[in-house]
Amino acid sequence: MMKRALLTGVGGYLPERVVSNAELSASLDTSDEWIRERTGIAQRHVAGAHETAAFMATAAARAALRMAGAAAGDVDAIILATSTPDQAFPATALRVQAMLGVTRGFGFDLSAACCGFIYALSVADGMIRVGQAEGVLVIGSEVYSRILDWQDRGTCVLFGDGAGAVFLQAAGPAVEPAARGVLSTHLHAQGTLGDILYVDGAVGQRDRPGTLVMNGREVFRHAVTRLAEAVDEALVANGLQRRDVDWLVPHQANLRIIDAMGRKLGLPAERVVVTVDRHANTSAASVPLALAEAVADGRIRRGDLVLMEALGGGLTWGSALVRM
Ligand code: ACO
Repeated sequence: MMKRALLTGVGGYLPERVVSNAELSASLDTSDEWIRERTGIAQRHVAGAHETAAFMATAAARAALRMAGAAAGDVDAIILATSTPDQAFPATALRVQAMLGVTRGFGFDLSAACCGFIYALSVADGMIRVGQAEGVLVIGSEVYSRILDWQDRGTCVLFGDGAGAVFLQAAGPAVEPAARGVLSTHLHAQGTLGDILYVDGAVGQRDRPGTLVMNGREVFRHAVTRLAEAVDEALVANGLQRRDVDWLVPHQANLRIIDAMGRKLGLPAERVVVTVDRHANTSAASVPLALAEAVADGRIRRGDLVLMEALGGGLTWGSALVRM
C-alpha cells in the first residue's frame, strides 16, 4: 500500500532589504498608486549580494526542519524549484544539501517558473508514495531582482526575492478521506504559450544572461482561466466541495488574480492567504512563503484543508491539495 506524504514543517526567508513603491518611483516613471491599484503590491524584499538562491533556501529549509523536529539525517532528498540558480551546476539543491550538513541521499533543481514549487511538491509526493524517499525538502528560492530590467516599469515593480520550504515525511498508508498529508497534485504545461512570459537568455546563450519579458495582459487572461480550471480539477479528483476548503494559498502574483480565485471558491477574504502586498511576486517561493506565514501566525492549523495553486512562465500551472 502506498505511503502518504505528511507536511511536517514549513519555513521561509526574506532578504533584509525592503524596497517600497515610493523608493522605486524615485528612479522610475511609476507611482505607489499605480502599483497598488493594479497589483496590490506595496513593497518587496530585494536580495543583497550574499543572499543567493542557495543561501535563502538553506535558511528556509532550516526553519522547516526545525518546525518538523527533524535533523539533517532525516533528509533523503532535496528538490529545489528556481529560475535563478546560483550556478549552472552543481544544482542549487546540492549547495543547500552541503550547507545543511546532509551527507547522503540526492537532490536536484527543477525549472517551472512561478509554478515550480507545485511541480516540486508533486515530484516529492510521488517519490514518497512509491517509497523512493522518506524525508524530502521541497524548496522554492528566487532572486528575480537579478533577472529584471530595472528600467522596465511594466515588469520590475512586480517581483521580489525570497525562499520558502516545506519538509515532507512519509507516513503509513492512509485510507480514511480525512487523512492528513498531500491528497493530490495536478500539473499542466503549454509550451506553445512560452512567449508570453520568459527570460530572454541564460548561461547557454552567448553574452545573453537574460532579463524577464512579459505580456502582462495575456498572462493575466490565462491565469484567471487556467487557475479556475485547476481549482475545480483538484476538488473533483478528491470528491470535495468548495466549502470543504479551509484555506486558499495561491501564487502571489497579483491581488486581482488572487481575489478572483477566492471568489471562485466562495471563500471569504480572510480564508485566502495574501502576502503579495509585502513580498510582491517571489515566483517559486511565493506559495511556501505564504504558507509559512499563515502557519507561523496560527491561522493554518493541523487538520485544515489547504488548496495551493500557481501559474508561471512556460506556461506552467497546477494545484496541490494538502490536509495539514
Ligand atoms: N507604472 C505606471 N504605469 C505603468 C506601469 C507602472 N509600473 N507599468 C505599465 N504602465 C502603463 C503602461 O505603459 C500603459 O500605459 P499606456 O496605456 O500609456 O500605454 C498602462 O500602464 C497600462 O499598461 P498595461 O500593461 O496594459 O496594464 P495592465 O492593466 O494590464 O496591468 C499588469 C499590468 C499589472 C502587469 C497586469 O497585466 C497583470 O497583473 N498581469 C498579470 C501578470 C502578472 O501578474 N505577472 C506576474 C508574473 S506571472 C505570474 O506570476 C503569473
